Amino acid sequence: MTESASAPGRERRPPYVGRLVTESAFPLTLRVDGVGHELLVGADDTLLDVLHDRLRLHSCRETCGIGVCGSCTVRVDGRAVSACLTMAFTCADADVETAEGTAVERVRQAFLDHQAFQCSYCTPGFVMSVAAMLDEPTERRDVDAALSGHLCRCASYRQIRAAVEELLDT
Ligand code: FES
Ligand code: FES
Repeated sequence: MTESASAPGRERRPPYVGRLVTESAFPLTLRVDGVGHELLVGADDTLLDVLHDRLRLHSCRETCGIGVCGSCTVRVDGRAVSACLTMAFTCADADVETAEGTAVERVRQAFLDHQAFQCSYCTPGFVMSVAAMLDEPTERRDVDAALSGHLCRCASYRQIRAAVEELLDT
């Protein structure tokens, strides 16, 4: 699927919050969960803006907006990143994965099996960091590091840990 669109509207927050003063728009081509997209993005648009507001992938969620909570975590060319801190124009020709893609089905299922959430707002971010950790060679997998950049306000940490332990064992 290919999308063409004008420069993005500012839907989630007013334009004066954390924004450069610019009306420039740049073409951006990227793949998200295996689907190709062509968009125009502003110089100050983040990957979170593109995924959540433009492509309506609402598993990519803003909470802190400053790289602290992990709720916006996605993978860019395999690496888990905070989408709120990743400028969209740096993702040209990138492969982006979100928690809505089929690639993380196994991780999502483990979270479901262990009821590793309450409100689930944080869950997609956790899922993406755990998926990135599992793709590491066994000797380099670091569960503490993978989970350390994520906050769960419902305190489902014990169940999240159990889900991750099961994934490591299978
Ligand atoms: S919204 Fe990106 S790390 Fe919190
Ligand atoms: S399940 Fe509610 S914030 Fe984590």
